[in-house]
Amino acid sequence: MAEILVLYYSRHGNVAAMAHTVARGVETVPGMQARLRTVPPVSTVCEAIQDTIPEQGPPFATVDDLQACHGLALGSPTRFGNMAAPLKYFLDGTATQWLAGALTGKPAAVFTSTSSMHGGQETTLLSMMLPLLHHGMILLGIPYRETDLVHTASGGTPYGASHLAGPDSKRPLTEEEKRLCLALGKRLAETARALHNSPD
Ligand SMILES: Cc1cc2nc3c(=O)[nH]c(=O)nc-3n(C[C@H](O)[C@H](O)[C@H](O)COP(=O)(O)O)c2cc1C
Repeated sequence: MAEILVLYYSRHGNVAAMAHTVARGVETVPGMQARLRTVPPVSTVCEAIQDTIPEQGPPFATVDDLQACHGLALGSPTRFGNMAAPLKYFLDGTATQWLAGALTGKPAAVFTSTSSMHGGQETTLLSMMLPLLHHGMILLGIPYRETDLVHTASGGTPYGASHLAGPDSKRPLTEEEKRLCLALGKRLAETARALHNSPD
């Protein structure tokens, strides 16, 4: 089984719901499996030590997860139009993998959730791509053959999957948003499988 790392941070559960749906999309592709991982919150006390296993949800990611997987789906809530600090903190710890080119040539995709409609979904998605491009990853978006992109009245962008969680962060994923998460996970897994199986 080739694996796609679905790495996310979620405070109120919206990005977590997206991550699970992206993972389902990954696993619609025969021979492909999703590895769900999260990151701990960043403490005001730097380098605070947390248990390696969170109280609930998937385990915390390590750089070994990045190295082992054949592709990466990265999900974050929007924080002032940008990715959340815990994910940025995790990525800032990957200089060794960057220098070794460990992620070069692997496919990647991004997803986010916001409270407001025009609160920065696209800027967050694009900013999440930057460190992955430095790592030499191959970025995938969502093509407009996914007609939900045209009809959605909430989340869903060509730059990646997105969700409009509303002011109280309680709005569930719409059917369009779910289908776009599934499509993104599927496309990522198909690309990873094709790259993995292609001769060098
Ligand atoms: C510090 C902070 C900054 C935020 N910045 C934005 C923002 O720029 N635009 C927006 O629409 N929502 C913003 N939000 C709301 C979250 O992005 C939104 O609630 C998200 O859906 C939460 O995802 P989660 O349920 O996975 O934690 C912010 C929330 C916090 C706590």
